[in-house]
Amino acid sequence: MSSINLDTDFYETEDPIWNPALLTIPVPGIRRMVNLAATMEDVIHLSIGQPDLKPPQHVVDAAVDALHAGQTGYTMDAGLPELLEALAEYYGERYNRTLVPENIMITTGATEALYLALTATSAPGREFIVPEPSFMLYAPLIRMNGGVVKSIPTHAENQHQLDPQEVIDAIGPNTYAIVLNSPSNPTGTIYPRDTVEAIVQEAAYRGVYVISDEVYDHLVYDGKEYPSVLSCCSDLDHVMVISSFSKTFSMAGMRIGWLMASQGAIKKLRRYHMFTTTVANTPCQWAGVAALRGERTFIDDMLVEYQRRRDRLVELVKATPHLTGYRPDGAFYLFPSLPEGVNGGNVALKLLRETGVCTVAGETFGDTCSNALRISYSTSLDQIEAAFERIIPWMAKQDW
Ligand SMILES: Cc1ncc(COP(=O)(O)O)c(C=O)c1O
Repeated sequence: MSSINLDTDFYETEDPIWNPALLTIPVPGIRRMVNLAATMEDVIHLSIGQPDLKPPQHVVDAAVDALHAGQTGYTMDAGLPELLEALAEYYGERYNRTLVPENIMITTGATEALYLALTATSAPGREFIVPEPSFMLYAPLIRMNGGVVKSIPTHAENQHQLDPQEVIDAIGPNTYAIVLNSPSNPTGTIYPRDTVEAIVQEAAYRGVYVISDEVYDHLVYDGKEYPSVLSCCSDLDHVMVISSFSKTFSMAGMRIGWLMASQGAIKKLRRYHMFTTTVANTPCQWAGVAALRGERTFIDDMLVEYQRRRDRLVELVKATPHLTGYRPDGAFYLFPSLPEGVNGGNVALKLLRETGVCTVAGETFGDTCSNALRISYSTSLDQIEAAFERIIPWMAKQDW
């Protein structure tokens, strides 16, 4: 054991000089666990939220070449024109619809796109419908500006699927937007086309936005078709679709994402973007052009690998006492439930302390899903097997 100090106390200070809006940002559960794990030896991480594969060589080369070619200045604020064109073409072909570069803005990862979309639209009293469990950024960004989060809980027994009628029934006079994330972090669930179409069409009819986080749009298994919001809307008037290169090309640290919307919405968001990050990283935007224009066998190989891990993880979870799993269709996570009333935060902590396996507590992803754990399979099959050699006997000993 090393004597590194945990920095959780830092996160918990409530120094009055800070903007009270920062109190909407929870103590980051993942960091807490990872920090504790850093003080331990022989830890197996099933907590990882980024791809463990290397990015394609031609993508790395493009970033290095751009640096050598002097591409070190700012691009135009909406993004590198070559990347905007490549994205418009790529999405146009993928979903058979016309997109122009003016429908797109390049951001510093999907994170900045989400930040801009949610904080530019959230306002006191406005409601945002968010299925739960949800990626941990959405609710704090909405609440920071006074917006209200209306959660729709989903369940492992139902593979965390969303009932579109429940979403439609939740729309009220103050609803501004519905936030979708399919494939989902933390559940890996993909909403079928019928669900997405029903929500998108009703939202457009009622003048409500659909903000769709599609960063895992290529991590879709079993050869299934991916129902993007972009392929389910008749126009872009009430949608904002967000994605990035982080997961598809293992480029998380290169920080290139984008937001697609109507030209009017993009114009407004460009002004905001100029006052937040100005522009995204220039050499990495060139890497993005190479990713889209180059050969994409990387994605096929990645899918074979992740699918193999997903299949094995599903079997292992099934063999684990006290866990209720399901078969996720995408991303690289599984979000099994613990028995009713058992707190995932306590379980994750005890599991880490007693077995050295690091998972993420369900409560990180919302108040309605605290009896769950997020297990990531963005790690080798050997590590996954080794982790469950510890988890299964440990779980068998618990007497909940
Ligand atoms: C659902 C979801 N959205 C957005 C992000 C952030 O992506 P980026 O690296 O492009 O900022 C992540 C990263 O884990 C994610 O899981």
